[in-house]
Amino acid sequence: MDLLNLIEARKSVRKYEDKKIPKEDLDKILRAGWLAPSWMNSQPWKFIAVQNNETKAMLSELAGFQPHVKNADAVIVCVADNNAWNREVFGEVLKKRGMTDDGIDKIFKIETFYPPLLGQKTTLLRSVEQLTYAISYMMLEAKELNIDSCIIGAIANEITLKNTDDKKQIIEKVNNTLNLKDGEVIATMITLGYSENKEEKTNKQRKNIEDIVFYEKC
Ligand SMILES: Cc1cc2nc3c(=O)[nH]c(=O)nc-3n(C[C@H](O)[C@H](O)[C@H](O)COP(=O)(O)O)c2cc1C
Repeated sequence: MDLLNLIEARKSVRKYEDKKIPKEDLDKILRAGWLAPSWMNSQPWKFIAVQNNETKAMLSELAGFQPHVKNADAVIVCVADNNAWNREVFGEVLKKRGMTDDGIDKIFKIETFYPPLLGQKTTLLRSVEQLTYAISYMMLEAKELNIDSCIIGAIANEITLKNTDDKKQIIEKVNNTLNLKDGEVIATMITLGYSENKEEKTNKQRKNIEDIVFYEKC
């Protein structure tokens, strides 16, 4: 499909048929995420495809018991990998780009280039910022394969809650199940499946394009 038509056709789907997504299609969707651009190629992310029913139930609980997380055939857990900004890891990426040790040292002293200089919260925000591109890529690749999706952002985590104490148990349970390390935060999920209602048209409720799109100035 033409890309703009594909973008028009994509919509959030929350009710799915009981039908398996072929492994090769899941692989393609994950590959689209892997190929997404990121800040200086930092790639501060991990994508975990989950099809196990027990794990999906846990993920649904993490997302305030949203039913489509449990009912989707697959859920891609999008993890903000804050460890990707560590000097060794990020330094290695910059070296691969051909930067010298001196150049890399300079980068690590400039706030606009190196988020950890601005603290943990900013680093997490930067990781999440990168994830959004990969998520868009994966959703569009899914649509191209006739697989519907929904982004799940209402997740108990350090971004959505002032204090995660109340949700500590479920956060730990999910982190253990997915084998996440310190510094790896579940930022978003994508539910994937085949729409129960094939006839349903997209209902693009958007602000007026004239109110948000401009040339030269507002
Ligand atoms: C960052 C983000 C978080 C979202 N979180 C949820 C969510 O937790 N649950 C849900 O059902 N939909 C969620 N959505 C889907 C939006 O409600 C949906 O994209 C929006 O209403 C526009 O509709 P459309 O996707 O059909 O065009 C989220 C979307 C984005 C971009």
